[in-house]
Amino acid sequence: MKIVAKNEQFSKIVADFRILFVCEKKLDHRFVEDRERLDLMGFDGSDESICIVENSIYVGVENQDSESYRIAAAKAIGALKPLKISSAKVACYGEYSSAIIEGFGLGFYEFNSYKSKPKSVSLETIFVSTEEYLGNSSDLASLENIINRSDLMVKGVNLARDLINTAPNEINPITLAKKASEIAKDADLECTIYDEKYLETNGMGAMLAVGKASATQPRLIHLAYKPKNAQKKVVFVGKGLTYDTGGLSLKPSDYMTTMKADMSGAAAVMAIIKVASDLALPIEIHAIAGAAENAVSGNAFRPDDVLVAKNQKTIEVKNTDAEGRLVLADALCYAQDMVKDLDYIVDIATLTGACVVALGEYTTGVMGFDEDLKNSFVASGEKSGELAWILPFNRHLKKLLKSEVADISNISSSRYGGAITAGIFLSEFIEEKNHNKWVHLDIAGPAFVEKAWGVNPYGATGAGVRMAIEWLESLKG
Ligand code: BES
Ligand code: ZN
Ligand code: ZN
Repeated sequence: MKIVAKNEQFSKIVADFRILFVCEKKLDHRFVEDRERLDLMGFDGSDESICIVENSIYVGVENQDSESYRIAAAKAIGALKPLKISSAKVACYGEYSSAIIEGFGLGFYEFNSYKSKPKSVSLETIFVSTEEYLGNSSDLASLENIINRSDLMVKGVNLARDLINTAPNEINPITLAKKASEIAKDADLECTIYDEKYLETNGMGAMLAVGKASATQPRLIHLAYKPKNAQKKVVFVGKGLTYDTGGLSLKPSDYMTTMKADMSGAAAVMAIIKVASDLALPIEIHAIAGAAENAVSGNAFRPDDVLVAKNQKTIEVKNTDAEGRLVLADALCYAQDMVKDLDYIVDIATLTGACVVALGEYTTGVMGFDEDLKNSFVASGEKSGELAWILPFNRHLKKLLKSEVADISNISSSRYGGAITAGIFLSEFIEEKNHNKWVHLDIAGPAFVEKAWGVNPYGATGAGVRMAIEWLESLKG
C-alpha cells in the first residue's frame, strides 16, 4: 500500500473511499456528510469507534494527541482492508498528520507467510489531500516529507516484525546473521559476522555457553552506519535469542510458546540502523546483536557452571533460563572494546518476565544510571507512540546478585524485582567510564503480544524501533 500526497481539495480527489476523523465529537464539521445516518447508527465519535456509511468511514478521536490519531488510523485501515476497494482518501489533520500516516502503515501490516491461502487485499493507495481539517491548506513539500519519514519508519518497524514473526525453524543464529548481511547490503552498511571460533578466541565464554546445546552455534552480528557528517556515535546492542527453551532450567510449555520472539532486541537494532541510514541521520550507529539459541542437549550448559565473560568476570549459572543477560554481557563488552569514544550505548532485550509483571504487557522498562538519559527515552517513547517507564536501581537489590563461588550470580536470590536485578547484572559489564552513557530497555512485554492492541496486529510489534529513531532524531540538537 502506498501513500500519496495530493495538492488538491479533499472533495476533488477521486478515490473509492473517504476516511474521516471525527475530532472531539464535532459531528457538525464540513467533512461529515452523513449526519442523519451516523445518528441512526448510534455513532457519536467516541474514541476508537468506527462507522461505515456508504463509501465513507468515520473514526472517532476524542483526545487531541498523536497516539489517539495513530490508533484511530490503524483502526480505520484495519476496517478497510477486507473491502474490495483500491483507493481511499484522507485530509490533513495539522500536527497529527504524521501520526495518521504512520498509523495507516502500522495497522495495515499482516504476517501471512505461512498461510497457503492468504486473504487478498485490494487496497493499494491512500491519497492525502493538502486540505486541512481546520480549513487552510498545508504545504505539499512538507506533506511529502512527512509521508517519506513515516514510510521509512513503518518499513523499519515491519522489517523487525517480519524477522520476529518468522518461525524459529527458519530463524536460527546463522540465518539471522544472513538476514543481517542482506539488510547491510541493501542499506550499504558495514557488516561483520563472527562465528563460535571468534567467540572462543576472544574469551566470550558467557555467550558461547548459552548457545552450546544448539545445532546452530552462536553468531555475533555487527552492522555499522558511518555517515561523513556524523556528530555523535551511538551503539545499539540487541538480545538475539532465536529461541529460548530455558535450557536445562526448562520452561513449562505454556511459557515456552512465543519464545521465537526472544530475538526481538536483535531485530530492533537491525531495523533501527536501517531506518537511521534510510533517513540519512548524521549519527554514526553500530548495531550489535548476540544471536544464539538456548536449547537442550547433552552439550547444554548447566546450573552450577561457572562462565568467564569477555571482561574476565566470572559468572555462576544458577538458572539457564536467565540466558539473555549472559549473551548481552559478552556483546556489551565487545561493543565497548570495539567502538571507541562512543557517546551512548543502548541495549534492547526481551530480558525478563518480571518486567512484564511490573509494567504490564504494553510498556518497555527503562534502566540505567543517568536520569536525563532515561528520561529522554521515556519522552521519545511517548512522542513516537511507544510506552516506556523507568525502573530504578538501588543498592539493596544489587547485593542479591552476590555469588558464593564466582564474581556474580546470573540470577537474584530473591524472586522480587527481577527486571531491575537483571538490569543491574548487565551494569556489571558496562565500564565505569560508560555508566552514564548506557541505557537498558527491557521490551519483554511489548515486543510480542498474542492479541491485537493499539497500532499492532497479532504478534510482533517492532517495539523499540520507533522510540529509538525518535530519540536519535532528538540528538541532532
Ligand atoms: N526470554 C525470557 C524473558 C521473557 C519472558 C521474555 C516473557 C518475554 C516474555 C528470559 O530469558 C527469561 O526466561 N528470564 C527469566 C529470568 C529468571 C530465570 C530469573 C524470567 O523472566 O523468568
Ligand atoms: Zn530465558
Ligand atoms: Zn530469553
